[in-house]
Amino acid sequence: MKEVIKIEGGQRLNGTVRVSGSKNATVAVIPACILASKPVTVYGVPDISDVDALMQMLRELNVDVKMDEDRTLHIDPTHMKNTPMVSDVVSKLRASYYFMGALLGKYKKVEILMPGGCPLGNRPIDLHLKGFKALGANIHYSEDGVYTIEAPELKGANIFLDISSVGATINIMLAAVYAKGRTIIDNAAREPEIIDIATLLNKMGAKIRGSGTSTLIIDGVEELNGCMHEIIPDRIEAATYILMAAAMADDVVVENIIPKHLEAVTSKLEELGINMEVSSDSIHIFDNDPTAELHPVDITTKPYPGFATDAQQPFTPLLTRANGDCEVLEEIYPKRFLHCYELNKMGAHIDVDMDKGQAIIHGGTPLHGAKVRATDLRCGAGLVVAGLMADGETEIDDIYHIDRGYDNLDGKLRQLGAKIWREKVE
Ligand code: EPU
Repeated sequence: MKEVIKIEGGQRLNGTVRVSGSKNATVAVIPACILASKPVTVYGVPDISDVDALMQMLRELNVDVKMDEDRTLHIDPTHMKNTPMVSDVVSKLRASYYFMGALLGKYKKVEILMPGGCPLGNRPIDLHLKGFKALGANIHYSEDGVYTIEAPELKGANIFLDISSVGATINIMLAAVYAKGRTIIDNAAREPEIIDIATLLNKMGAKIRGSGTSTLIIDGVEELNGCMHEIIPDRIEAATYILMAAAMADDVVVENIIPKHLEAVTSKLEELGINMEVSSDSIHIFDNDPTAELHPVDITTKPYPGFATDAQQPFTPLLTRANGDCEVLEEIYPKRFLHCYELNKMGAHIDVDMDKGQAIIHGGTPLHGAKVRATDLRCGAGLVVAGLMADGETEIDDIYHIDRGYDNLDGKLRQLGAKIWREKVE
């Protein structure tokens, strides 16, 4: 028996949906907390399986971890031990790589399995390793997939990232807070999640300037203290509900958002012709006819503040309603198009050229229910958007991908009036 999500499409959505704390900030905040010498309290932690996995990793490092019912996480690293991180849970998610920077910073040594993550094509970590090397670390990779990274001492360095990688920027920052002297990361990523991690570390006593710009300056310190920190709202979860509302809302408010983080998405929705009103911490979407044709738009994914690759897959179903062709160019993960094959099973007409990182959505194709598979997290979100739009019943398999990154997705949608439920099937 396995669990699937089923959706009876075509229901109009009404009401208010509240966005949870950011997954991609949380998965870096949790490893960052072990850099402190005292307890850290984190508020607004999303209820997702990636968080459960990271809590298990903390326990394996002998860190005291407690989650309150209101999703406040208490992390006490006072008695932690730097044991090798080689259990299966490490290879389940990509974000386990943040323990590389955190443990290297704190203990000058880390042994860790190669991290896993969604299948989005080749996902190297060469830039993370280049940064650790520049700080003075030696790196060994064993045949059984374990990295040993160690440094007699970490020394501040000037590091230029060839690509402004989110993961590399955060990972190097985590190690550099305990390096001697100054580290400068140039061509750093500018995603909001990076600012959130820098804010947390500065509350602990780190000296990080420039987060949110492409130059990060980190002056190493001797010790970091405990602190309290609230996670920023999840801009991709927000984008997902905004897209669902754009497709199916009678009247929907998406609240607990930072509109600035969503400008690339909302400006595309305006081009499509969606009615909405943006206020300081919410978006109101109203009076959109789910059968109306939309103006065609093209999308190119870029690092922040450009159009987020993570919003590309949930956006695609809406483009099937355009009265013409729409081009999607993936500049971050050229092969992030597996959702398009699933959407084609639902009646879409999408041509994918992964060598070019391109999908052409031939619009004007009403969607119908079908059996489809969530090949990765945001593909799953895109299929839920499509299922809400489709005529008839959609069944989504491999929903563990969705549960990795969306807090109570089906529950929140039921509150908006969607017919969506989980079912055990053979
Ligand atoms: N890259 C390299 N070398 C590296 C690191 C990255 O070539 O050492 C390349 C990647 O292959 C990719 C580009 O640089 O082409 C950008 O990758 P980045 O490092 O920024 O991505 P990431 O840190 O691995 C995070 C999010 C992803 C999100 C990307 C881009 C987490 C845990 N993951 O990944 O989130 O797509 O940034 O914004 O924060 C998701 O939430 O669904 C997801 C996949």
